[in-house]
Amino acid sequence: MSDAAGRVRHEGLRQKIISAEQAAEFIQNGMTVGISGFTGAGYPKAVPGAVAAKAEAAHAKGEAFKIRMITGASTADECDGVLARANAIEFRSPFQSDPTLRNQINAGDAAYMDVHLSHIEQQVRAGFFGEMDVALIEVAGITEDGKLIPSLGVGTNVTWLQKAKKVILEVNARQNEKLEGMADIYDSVGLAPFRKPIPLTEAGGRIATPYLHCDLEKIAGIVLTDAPDRNSKFAEPDEMSKSIAAQIIDFFSHEVKMGRLPKNLLPLQSGVGNVANAVLAGLQDGPFDNLTGFTEVLQDGMLDLILSGKMLSASATALSFSPDALDRFNENIDFLRSKIILRPQEITNNPELIRRLGIIGMNAMIEADIYGNVNSTHIMGTKMMNGIGGSGDFARNSYLSFFVSPSVAKGGAISCIVPMVSHHDHTEHDVMVLVTEQGLADLRGKSPRERAKLIIENCSHPDYRDQLRDYYARAEKAGGLHTPHLLNEALSWHQRFVETGDMRVK
Ligand code: COA
Repeated sequence: MSDAAGRVRHEGLRQKIISAEQAAEFIQNGMTVGISGFTGAGYPKAVPGAVAAKAEAAHAKGEAFKIRMITGASTADECDGVLARANAIEFRSPFQSDPTLRNQINAGDAAYMDVHLSHIEQQVRAGFFGEMDVALIEVAGITEDGKLIPSLGVGTNVTWLQKAKKVILEVNARQNEKLEGMADIYDSVGLAPFRKPIPLTEAGGRIATPYLHCDLEKIAGIVLTDAPDRNSKFAEPDEMSKSIAAQIIDFFSHEVKMGRLPKNLLPLQSGVGNVANAVLAGLQDGPFDNLTGFTEVLQDGMLDLILSGKMLSASATALSFSPDALDRFNENIDFLRSKIILRPQEITNNPELIRRLGIIGMNAMIEADIYGNVNSTHIMGTKMMNGIGGSGDFARNSYLSFFVSPSVAKGGAISCIVPMVSHHDHTEHDVMVLVTEQGLADLRGKSPRERAKLIIENCSHPDYRDQLRDYYARAEKAGGLHTPHLLNEALSWHQRFVETGDMRVK
């Protein structure tokens, strides 16, 4: 802990060091709390547990205690998990992936608003969520003059620090001291009609200061911690991930040959998870050099591309590593400090920048339909999985937008290619290339009927191909020949799964 106290270099602020329990006293029932954290990085590790204990004590006395919680994205068990288990979350936005909270959302016990990650800050700034009572933010340290050194997740911290009436800081000594200087905190996005162009013209560019700013008067307390981020392990890429990755890499080569991509490609955005990581691992042995990354979350795959010299630079709003990759990051931080840029999520996910830089966006999906509409969020149309995250920011605005998935789920009982998606996150207008382990469908420049044939023949699993062909053929016969559908049957595959546990017609 003494190390953590040393991270508070501002003398006056050192007087504000308090315990997590004392800090929790600033958070009351019904308050809106802006919390740091993005994909298991940079979330507070101590105060949420103390708030959860307070909630449990209140509930034991028959008193109400729930908060409205807005973050950057998902946090981890010590934050979302502990608060959900204490039944302390009334409302949650903009993204989560905690199993307990997911169950509460789907049981109607917690309200959830799933928001594009590039939208959340402007909506909070504009007051769409009411006032923000408290911001609870993890940082890696505080400078002599009171500037805040971001930890491994920047997310929405700029806006929460500006907007909240009171601020609680967690200073985490486990975060590498040498993170100082890695971030580029542009905090002038503002609101219309006073906006100016964001002056970033290269994926690896820097346009601002490495520090977060906060009105020191608002800081109610500082809690010292020394705890790791979530640091989930990655599975070794399986055959399915490798197959999807290989097809994407072949596609890139083809696009370079056709003159539609430069030899070093365009800045890469990659969603989270094992398939995304496999694509990046595949690039390690691929023919492309001098790559760049402009992504939301930077994981092991991109780190290794930078360390091997394949990638020149990458920017992200959070660094979310496996334990081994975190060790590699810490060992090489002097080399990496100029190559990795941590930015606010309002910048990493900014449509203006994604369009300007010509990003290649690659995200996972739950299901796609035969016309290329994509569902990233809902199981069988009603149950929330995680949320849209940044996938919509990238899908709509990227130069090339990929969606990837295994062709089947639940041991083959579910086809991930269906007649009509049971929930729409990304419409046919935003989805350019679909890839499953079966094959790739390049939907660019194709009409809905051309797309349907490609998706069925290239991406669907053989167990479902005839069923899809049959649906499509009968839909064509029924007329409506722009986007043929049988409305009384379009969602029958989902209904069959709900009733029988299998989408296959037996
Ligand atoms: N119908 C029902 N369930 C399905 C399904 C489908 N069509 N496809 C997958 N599933 C289930 C899987 O069986 C698995 O269930 P389990 O947890 O009980 O094992 C679960 O959904 C996750 O599937 P998996 O194949 O492991 O996918 P993933 O971990 O790659 O996650 C998303 C896929 C779409 C859920 C995830 O990428 C996501 O939340 N995306 C939205 C946010 C986003 O894209 N962010 C990117 C910007 S960083």
